[in-house]
Amino acid sequence: MRISYLECTRCGKRLSAKRPQNVCPKDGGVLYVRYDLARLRGKWRPEDLRGRVASMWRYEEVLPNGAPVTLGEGFTPLLQSREFESVFIKDEGLNPTGSFKARGMSAAVTMARHYGLKRLAAPSAGNAGGALAAYAAAAGMEAHIFMPKDVPAANRMECEYFGAHVTLVDGLISDCGRMVAERKDKGGWFDVSTLKEPFRVEGKKTMGYEIAEQLKWKLPDAIVYPTGGGVGMIGMWKAFEEMEQLGWIGAGRPKMITVQAAGCAPIVKAWEEGKSASEMWAGASTFAAGLRVPKAYGDYLILDILKKSGGAAVAASDEEILAATRHWASVEGVFAAPEGAASLVAYQKLRASGFLRAEDTVVLFNTGTAYKYLDMMEAEGKKGRAELSATGNLGGIIGPY
Ligand SMILES: Cc1ncc(COP(=O)(O)O)c(C=O)c1O
Ligand SMILES: [Zn+2]
Repeated sequence: MRISYLECTRCGKRLSAKRPQNVCPKDGGVLYVRYDLARLRGKWRPEDLRGRVASMWRYEEVLPNGAPVTLGEGFTPLLQSREFESVFIKDEGLNPTGSFKARGMSAAVTMARHYGLKRLAAPSAGNAGGALAAYAAAAGMEAHIFMPKDVPAANRMECEYFGAHVTLVDGLISDCGRMVAERKDKGGWFDVSTLKEPFRVEGKKTMGYEIAEQLKWKLPDAIVYPTGGGVGMIGMWKAFEEMEQLGWIGAGRPKMITVQAAGCAPIVKAWEEGKSASEMWAGASTFAAGLRVPKAYGDYLILDILKKSGGAAVAASDEEILAATRHWASVEGVFAAPEGAASLVAYQKLRASGFLRAEDTVVLFNTGTAYKYLDMMEAEGKKGRAELSATGNLGGIIGPY
C-alpha cells in the first residue's frame, strides 16, 4: 500500500487506509491521505514525469494505488490569456464529463473498487453527480445521486445515460446531503459526498501538481478558484505542501482566492467577518449551479488556506458572471462554465482594487465547460433582457442573450 495512513485535519488522529473510511469518528474532521514523502524525496524527481501518461495519473506516486478507473482525466491545458499577459486559464472544461469533478471521482471510484464496494452515493450540485455516474459506469458499480431538481439539463441527462439512480430533490445540495445520510445504511451505499471520504481531494490535488509542472515548478503569485465545497482549493494546498516535502518547490505559496456567487457566498461572508467557519447561507440562488453550496463541510479548511496564503474572497453577481462568460468566449475563445467565468470577475475586481497587479502571474480556474449550461445561460440571458427592457435600457445589448 502506497498510503501510510489517513489523518484527521481536526484532531490529528490516524486511521488505516486498509478499509474504507469516511470522516474522523471522533469529531467528524476531514481525513487527509498521507504518504511516505520522506522516502520519495530525492528518488522521485520532476524529470521522471517526462513521457508519462497525459492524465492526472502521471503523479501516481502520490495517488492511491488501486488500479485506476480512468477516462483520461486531468493534464488539462494552461492557456496564456490573450487579454492579460501574466494571466493563465486552467481549462478544466476539457475533462471527461466536462468539469474538474472528473479528477476527484476518478480517484474516489478507483479506491471504492479497490475496497470492493459496489454501491456509491452522493449529493451533487450537478457536475459531481455526472462525474460519479460516469466513473461508476466505467467501474461497473451502482451510483445513487441526489441533486436539486433545477440543475442544468445536461447533469440530469448524463446521469441517466450513465445508468445512475437519480433522485431529483426540491431543495439544495444541503437537502440532498441529508437524504443521502438518511438512506445510505438501508441502501448499503458508501457515501462519497464532498470531503466525506478522503480520495476526491487526492484527485483534485493533481491540479496543484499540474500548475507547478506547467509553470516549470514556479508557482504563480495567485490562484483564483470558484469555490463551492472547496475541494480543489483544499487539494491544491495539500499538493503544494507535498511538493515542498518532496523538494520540488520552496516554501512560497500563491495567494489563494475564493470566488463565489453573490447569491450564495458563505465563505466570502465568513472571510469578511474574520471568522474561521461559515454559517449556512439562507435562500441560496445563482445560475452558477456548482456554487450553490450554502455551507461547505470543509469551510474551516478553506478559510484557513485563505488566511495562510494572504488570499482573498470575492463575490460575483449573476449578471457579472454572464458578462464574463461572453467576454472570455469572445476574447479568449474559451466557452466557460458560469462558475469558471466567475474567476474572471474576481480577477477584474482584484485588479481594480489593487490587490492584484498587472505583473502578477495569476491562474484563473475555468472549472467546467459552458456546453453543460446552455439552458441555464439562455434563461439567465432572457431574464437579464427582460429586466433591462422593463427599465427601457436595452440599447447596448447585441444578440439573442
Ligand atoms: C463547474 C464547477 N465549478 C466549481 C464548483 C465548485 O467546486 P468545489 O466544490 O470543489 O468548490 C463546482 C461544483 O459543483 C462545479 O460544478
Ligand atoms: Zn478528528
